[in-house]
Amino acid sequence: MEGYRGRPWTRLPALLLACAAAAAVGECRVVHVGEAHRRSMLANGLGATPPMGWNSWNHFACDGNGEVVIRETADALVSTGLAAAGYKYVNLDDCWAEPERDAKGNLAANKKTFPHGIKALADYVHSKGLKLGIYSDAGYKTCAKAQPGSLGHEEQDAKTFASWGVDYLKYDNCNNGDTKPLQRYPDMSKALMQAGRPIFFNLCEWGDMHPARWGAAYGNSWRTTNDIEDTWNSMTSMADQNEVWAEYARPGGWNDPDMLEVGNGGMTNDEYIVHFSIWAISKAPLIIGCDVRHMSQDTYDILANKEVIAVNQDPLGVQGKKVRMEGSSEVTDAAPHCTLR
Ligand code: GAL
Repeated sequence: MEGYRGRPWTRLPALLLACAAAAAVGECRVVHVGEAHRRSMLANGLGATPPMGWNSWNHFACDGNGEVVIRETADALVSTGLAAAGYKYVNLDDCWAEPERDAKGNLAANKKTFPHGIKALADYVHSKGLKLGIYSDAGYKTCAKAQPGSLGHEEQDAKTFASWGVDYLKYDNCNNGDTKPLQRYPDMSKALMQAGRPIFFNLCEWGDMHPARWGAAYGNSWRTTNDIEDTWNSMTSMADQNEVWAEYARPGGWNDPDMLEVGNGGMTNDEYIVHFSIWAISKAPLIIGCDVRHMSQDTYDILANKEVIAVNQDPLGVQGKKVRMEGSSEVTDAAPHCTLR
């Protein structure tokens, strides 16, 4: 029996059970071939496999994105075992900063919600063996308009992030004065490369100017879609839009169909299993979007499924594609190098 080849996405829950059962008797193994051939990574050397972590936006949006939640989330990632399963990045999204820059023109943490500042938070997250991610925008204001964007301040902001110990930047696309992403994203990429610290660069350009075609030169991952919602229709639509760019995914540069909704309550458990499975075979970033401090056992079991994570983290980094229809089912050749025996 060979990998996930020829298996409709709609049958993935059953397949996952089959894989788990096979693994239990030691029969599921991942085969890696031609790895060197597929490597041409950004010089920051990051993203050899899709990033795994957590982000505040899908569950908390602007409300609740504060240092208490972030610290408790870091604690929960470790205490539940999710960190050991691979989830390392703890990422702040929009609304972490003061609405205006400080007297020196620097971005500053919101005094109410992050009273101890981002450096102290990064130190805490690092002390747990995790990494801290932050958010900014390739425009004059972020999408929530709660804080300044980095357009025209790329070098200054990249240096600030590096001095705080930031490990990951999600860089959004709002309020950009109609300048082209191919001007704005390379500027921040260069600034990050010169900031003195390896920082994973996630281009959140929503797929507008087909970043799969140019993103690998400037970033480690690029959004291929608009924002996901916590519904089956939205999730499958993200998967479809993302699949088109499968050929462009590779170690160092990944298609990003947006963050996970698993555990947020809008889909059934089986639908979340399919959601997580498709993201895994698509070699998508596995960025958890629920409140891991209070997740159910079902949610944990999906997010911590070792066999599914192993498919996502396979070093060859080949994104699954749809290859044909079988009735109303779509069939994928996902993970053709993962061989079940
Ligand atoms: C959107 C982005 C979301 C979230 C939000 C914050 O543009 O796609 O993932 O970051 O902005 O305002």
